[in-house]
Amino acid sequence: MAPVRDGAFGGSDASLRAHLRAATVAAHDLLDHAMQDASGWQTRADYARFLALQYAARAPLEAWLAANAPADLVPPAQTPLLERDLAALNAPLPASSPPFDPMQTPSSPALEAVFHVKHAALGAAWVLAGSALGNRAIAKQVARTGGGAWPVAFLGDDAMMGFWQSLRTRIEQPAARGEAEGAAQAAEAVFAHFLRVAEVAQVSEKTPEGIGA
Ligand code: HEM
Repeated sequence: MAPVRDGAFGGSDASLRAHLRAATVAAHDLLDHAMQDASGWQTRADYARFLALQYAARAPLEAWLAANAPADLVPPAQTPLLERDLAALNAPLPASSPPFDPMQTPSSPALEAVFHVKHAALGAAWVLAGSALGNRAIAKQVARTGGGAWPVAFLGDDAMMGFWQSLRTRIEQPAARGEAEGAAQAAEAVFAHFLRVAEVAQVSEKTPEGIGA
């Protein structure tokens, strides 16, 4: 399931949200497929692997935002919800993935020179908050497949939806070029970070020990 594409993508007077979605639509598609390959959520065991992957990827992102973002750009922490869901499934907590670095995939040296942590925080916060939209869709499937018995503290997180609504007013308007480019750079880095975690999980899924190994 990819983000809905609309006519606002790209153009110079596009909103910051449209700019961020245009910059990351391909990465989102790639990640969606990688996550379905790494775990999916068709069985209880798949769902536990999906939550473990989410935990491993999100722990360093939350740590980076808590240490670097202005208070209004720190999304509600979701790792405690993931811990709760994993415990309810009797699944072990996986190790966190390596630390997040918003400049790990700089698209140009010029961007590196003008890196601004507030812009990076905005891009990273958008990705985490925006993912709550996809989570709502996944929650419906999980409720159906699990007959309402699988824990959904993470997928149904109302606090993140509340944060998303407040972020929308900020991103649904055009942004200055530096802010838009810095936020997009960090958003791409978040997708790259998630993709690496999903790729590791795909490999470990093919071993007898699974993702928690
Ligand atoms: C696991 C598979 C995933 C599925 C099936 C999925 C599905 C979706 C769907 C359906 C939307 C569109 C919602 C809408 O426009 O109404 C969406 C948006 C989005 N998702 Fe995902 N998603 C997945 C994983 C992720 C992950 C892991 C992240 C973050 C790393 C993420 C970040 C986003 C963002 C940033 C948006 C766009 C928010 C916006 O419209 O501004 N998604 N996703």
